[in-house]
Amino acid sequence: MAANLQQLVAGAPKAELHMHIEGSLEPELMFELAAKNAVSIPYPTVDAVRAAYQFSDLQSFLDIYYAGAAVLLHEEDFYAMTRAYLERAHADNVVHTEIFFDPQTHTARGVPFQVVVEGITRALAEAQRRYGMGYRLILCFLRHLSEADAFATLEQAVPHLGLIHGVGLDSSERGHPPSKFERVFARARELGLRVVAHAGEEGPPAYIYEALDLLKVERIDHGVRALEDAALVARLAASRMPLTVCPLSNVKLCVFPRLAEHNLRRLLAAGLCATVNSDDPAYFGGYINENFRQTAAALDLTRDELYRLLKNGFEAAFLTDAERAQHYAALDGYWQSL
Ligand code: ADE
Ligand code: ZN
Repeated sequence: MAANLQQLVAGAPKAELHMHIEGSLEPELMFELAAKNAVSIPYPTVDAVRAAYQFSDLQSFLDIYYAGAAVLLHEEDFYAMTRAYLERAHADNVVHTEIFFDPQTHTARGVPFQVVVEGITRALAEAQRRYGMGYRLILCFLRHLSEADAFATLEQAVPHLGLIHGVGLDSSERGHPPSKFERVFARARELGLRVVAHAGEEGPPAYIYEALDLLKVERIDHGVRALEDAALVARLAASRMPLTVCPLSNVKLCVFPRLAEHNLRRLLAAGLCATVNSDDPAYFGGYINENFRQTAAALDLTRDELYRLLKNGFEAAFLTDAERAQHYAALDGYWQSL
C-alpha cells in the first residue's frame, strides 16, 4: 500500500465495533495489577507472557485470555485497563467505540458486577469528556456456560441498564450454537437492549442463520464463514447486516493461514457491510490502525475499498441518525480534503 494511503487511513475518523475490553489488557499492566493485587501469573516476565501468545485455534487463546483476566479485582483495575485502551483508540483516531465486556469472567471469581461496570464506565465517560469519543457498552454472555448462568447475569445487569446498551455472545463457538441462548436474547430485547453475537468465526454458516433467526441480532461479529453459503451472503447483503471483521485476530487464531488469504476483500465485493476491528488487540498484535495497515497491505486494498470499510463502521454503529450523519460528514470532509 502506498505510504500516503496508509497515512490517510491512519488519520481518518473511525468507529470500532468489536473489541473485548479484557482483550486490551497489555502484559505490562497485567504484571502491574498482579503485583498490586497479589495474584500470581504463570510467567516470569512481560516478554515471556508475549512469547506465550501463539495460538492454534480460538480455545487455545481463550484459555490464556481468561487466565490473564484474573488480575482484575477492583474498580480502579477495570478503569485502568479501559483507560489504556481508550488512549490507544484515540491515538488511532477512533471517534466512536462499542466495547464488549465479559462479566461472568469476573463474577465467577467473586468480583461484584457493579465493580466491573463502574470501572469500565468511568473510563468511557472520561474519554467522552476529554476526547469527545462516543461509546456504547455491550455485555457478552460466555456461550460455553449455561443458559441459566446467562439469565442470572442478565438479571444482575438490570439495575445498571442505564450504562449497558446491548448484549452479545462470545467465547468457545464450536458446540455452543446461538440457539442455546434464544430465550436469554428474547429477554434482553424485551429490556430494550441492542443485540449482536459472534457467529461464523470458527462455527459454520448455520450458526449465522441461528443468530439472525433465533437471536434476531443486528450485527454479526466476525461472520467470515458466511462466504461458504451463497444464499446467506445474498441475504446479508440485501439486509445490509453488518459483519464486524477482525483480520489480525483471524490469522492469530488460524481462521485464515495468512492475512493475504483473508476474505475481507471478497466480503466487500459481495456487497456486505464489512467493518475492520481489533477484537483482542493486546493478544493479536495490533489495535485498529494496525489491522487496517496490515490488511490493506496484504490484500492491496484500494482507496475506495478502504473508504467503504471506514464508512461501514459508522453505518453499523448503534448511533442516532443525527450522530451518524455527523460522522459521515466528518469522514467525507477528511477523505476529500486529502
Ligand atoms: N472472546 C474474546 N475474543 C473472542 C473471540 N475472538 N471469539 C470468541 N470469544 C472471544
Ligand atoms: Zn470477538
